[in-house]
Amino acid sequence: MKVGMKVGIPKEVLAGERRVATTPETAKRLQKLGFEVLIESGAGANADFSDDLYTAADCKIVAGAEALWAEADIVLKVREPMQHPDLGKHEAELLRAGQVLISFIWPAQNQELVELLAARKGTVLAMDAVPRISRAQKCDALSSMANIAGYRAVIEAAQHFGSFFTGQFTAAGKVPPARVLVIGAGVAGLAAIGAAKGLGAIVRAFDTRPAVKEQVESMGAEYLTLEFEEDGDGAGGYAKVMTDAFMDAERALFEDQAKEVDIIVTTALIPGKPAPYLITEQALKNMREGSVVVDLAAERGGNCPLVVADQVTIKHGVSLIGYTDLPSRMANVASNLYGNNLYHLLDDMGGAEGFKVDEDDEVVRGTLILNEGELRWPPPKIEPSPQAKPAPKPEAAAAPKPAAASAPKPKPKSSSKKSHGHGGGASKPANPLWLALGGLALIAVGWGGNDDFLDHFTVFILACFIGWQVIWNVSPALHTPLMSVTNAISGIIIIGGMLQIGGDLSDPAVILGAIAILVATINVAGGFLVTQRMLKMFQR
Ligand code: NAI
Repeated sequence: MKVGMKVGIPKEVLAGERRVATTPETAKRLQKLGFEVLIESGAGANADFSDDLYTAADCKIVAGAEALWAEADIVLKVREPMQHPDLGKHEAELLRAGQVLISFIWPAQNQELVELLAARKGTVLAMDAVPRISRAQKCDALSSMANIAGYRAVIEAAQHFGSFFTGQFTAAGKVPPARVLVIGAGVAGLAAIGAAKGLGAIVRAFDTRPAVKEQVESMGAEYLTLEFEEDGDGAGGYAKVMTDAFMDAERALFEDQAKEVDIIVTTALIPGKPAPYLITEQALKNMREGSVVVDLAAERGGNCPLVVADQVTIKHGVSLIGYTDLPSRMANVASNLYGNNLYHLLDDMGGAEGFKVDEDDEVVRGTLILNEGELRWPPPKIEPSPQAKPAPKPEAAAAPKPAAASAPKPKPKSSSKKSHGHGGGASKPANPLWLALGGLALIAVGWGGNDDFLDHFTVFILACFIGWQVIWNVSPALHTPLMSVTNAISGIIIIGGMLQIGGDLSDPAVILGAIAILVATINVAGGFLVTQRMLKMFQR
């Protein structure tokens, strides 16, 4: 692709959509990738980004959607293309052959749209199709939006709940803390737990995947259990559909819980399936008047079918909130995070200079819906690496979902050559050539060296080998404690080095001692620095 590519951001046309695909801050980042950024006049107004802010960020303001689509090489949007209310035509008709469109598409639900886009011979990437692999976490718009939705769900509940979240002891009387039940501890659920805990509520949570128990408890919430032998873990950190008997038992559990809790936030979802039916009318009857239910799945039939999508209704004295636009209700931060997701995808695609729709790149391949009009969806399944495959004991083996604050979802480790993380190489048998070379080197050293040196050298080689094996097999989640251990080892090396540097500089042992002190000191200082940074991430 040519240098000086133009990225264009039109104003969203869906009524009530406040987000914008690029903010002045993310525009700056796109410019660093070599893109020129064009923005339709007024595109950011509903997210508190005026045209002036974009101009100050060196973006070009373009009047009108048609002019913007005509000039841009790549169009970035939030919502899938739809009928344009002002132009009287479908946004898909603005896409031209070879142009790239990146936005939410939902190809399974919008097959007509995909056909419309295919007829335009455009290249389309769907942000809702970003694969759940480690390398794609930074592009994962579903997670970044669900994180916001979970937080906002609690804020909306607070608005309709007539009491404090945190308990109060005042001269005028005592107010008990609010009790919140979060159903589904995925990204949105964990964010809801965090927000409700932050406001001071007593929080309990339930999920069909026992692997999330630790996550829930580490956030200070109580994990509810069901007396029922069935594990809800599906592939890749998603849930699976449960049996009817389990669902009956689950609904009964919530009917029971409803007698005690003030607020229920439901976020249960199995991708590609209708929302599981969890909150019965009886559960609503069991709740105290003035209680609140927020159903994040309202758009797909709801975990509580009595919740009406996009509305707040009252049933049996309980406020039922069915907003489907929770991220848009925090348009400023949602636009920034979504813009960052898009930036990372464009970075992965080579920036402006090396821009390429590389079908060998599994992130691009997973996200690609159309390549110059040719249907590329659904993509071939990504095989999780052996480490990410479910092991017989789910409690111990399944990767827990990370805390929602940083939003990443559980990912099977990518099998890509670009994937991060250890482990892939650890299980590989050692290359026989290297072993042979090592053996030969040992023999060569033994031939010429004295017994004393050979003893030390053998211990050194064995230590290197064992150290390598130990460190390489530690899971990334344990790298921080591992660092403390390496710091301790470095401390011993420093002492050893100090014992050696007493003599004169012509002695190789002195020089080696000095080098050992230098390297080990760098390791110790670096370890402290990194630990400090990690601790800062958890500080409020
Ligand atoms: P996720 O896949 O990360 O989490 C869903 C969780 O539900 C999983 O942990 C799964 O194990 C659990 N689950 C599935 N079946 C269950 C059952 N029967 N009982 C209890 N738990 C069950 O999904 P994520 O990203 O957290 O999204 C959650 C929901 O929020 C989705 O329905 C999504 O469409 C919705 N959403 C709504 C928004 C809005 O504005 N209303 C905005 C963003 C997301």
